[in-house]
Amino acid sequence: MPEMTSSVAAFVGGDGERSPALTLPAGVDLTAKLGRLTLKNPVTVASGTFGYGHEFHRFYDISQLGAVMVKGTTLHPRAGNKPPRVVETPAGMLNAIGLQNPGVDEVIRTELPWLVSVGATAIVNIAGHSVDEYGEIARRLDSVPGVAAIEINISCPNVDQGGMAFGVHCPSAAAVVSGVRRATKLPIITKLTPNVTDIGEVARAVVDAGSDMLSLINTLVGMVIDIERRRPVLGNTVGGLSGPAVRPVALKMVWDVARQVKVPIIGLGGIVTAPDAIQFLLAGASAVSIGTANFADPLAPLDVIEGIAAYLAAHGHRGVAEIVGAANPGFLGSRP
Ligand SMILES: Cc1cc2nc3c(=O)[nH]c(=O)nc-3n(C[C@H](O)[C@H](O)[C@H](O)COP(=O)(O)O)c2cc1C
Repeated sequence: MPEMTSSVAAFVGGDGERSPALTLPAGVDLTAKLGRLTLKNPVTVASGTFGYGHEFHRFYDISQLGAVMVKGTTLHPRAGNKPPRVVETPAGMLNAIGLQNPGVDEVIRTELPWLVSVGATAIVNIAGHSVDEYGEIARRLDSVPGVAAIEINISCPNVDQGGMAFGVHCPSAAAVVSGVRRATKLPIITKLTPNVTDIGEVARAVVDAGSDMLSLINTLVGMVIDIERRRPVLGNTVGGLSGPAVRPVALKMVWDVARQVKVPIIGLGGIVTAPDAIQFLLAGASAVSIGTANFADPLAPLDVIEGIAAYLAAHGHRGVAEIVGAANPGFLGSRP
């Protein structure tokens, strides 16, 4: 991933190694208001790229993040797909993890209390094989302390049943959201797949079904073939493409969706630096998520938070909301 090389060098002890504490300019309020979900800043970390945060908390205090979107959580434990599960691609990576996770009850028993104990804001990403299963996971999470919101993953390309299959058709996407809506009073974020002809159509369907917010994008389906073995590299044959390679596609999708729905959007896909993140905010995202960049530079989200604050200060803004959708003439959401 060429764009990440310099930040890796910095992290491993080269020039410019950064402090694990944030330095923010005075007079800028980074609070991100996403409907009834308020985050201390607009920078979250993407599901599946941050585990539950343990490894990253050794590098910095993860309560400084807007939120931690935890790994996709299913009703029962999942071992995930057979290896290899990850392969590097130009300016990106392809993964087929297959939703490895310990199951919702274990997440409630151990991971969420830990995230609460370190002061992190936790958003739980959920995935199921059926509408009922999504509803059941949401019901179990409904009254658990420390869950700020549920992110519905109807966009995972790496599982046989469920996952992305729900997110590529409006009726099934809406049915999952309605089922979760009935099961919980928590704010619902629906995570959309880019693997569709018209992402705006799915966005409108899930908002009509009761989704409070949207996040986009999940990974783009792709593959890599080993030419000597003449076999696909990934054990799952196909995987999901992420990292800087997908950023222009993700940005365009956020731009399009922000013109079609009024609900807050969390933008993600290939964000590495603050200027990347600011593009998503200007396109109409109210917050952003850092995914693959965490693997190359665990401190990347802190640089992004500071860079957004510096940009706001340099342009005379007092808060993030002032720039949300500012580059998008068709932006439908609200700004102060
Ligand atoms: C290794 C890996 C695992 C992922 N697992 C999940 C997951 O469990 N649930 C989910 O909704 N998205 C998952 N994603 C997708 C990311 O959250 C994100 O949507 C995508 O990678 C695009 O952002 P990025 O380019 O910043 O990584 C995963 C991505 C990667 C690279």
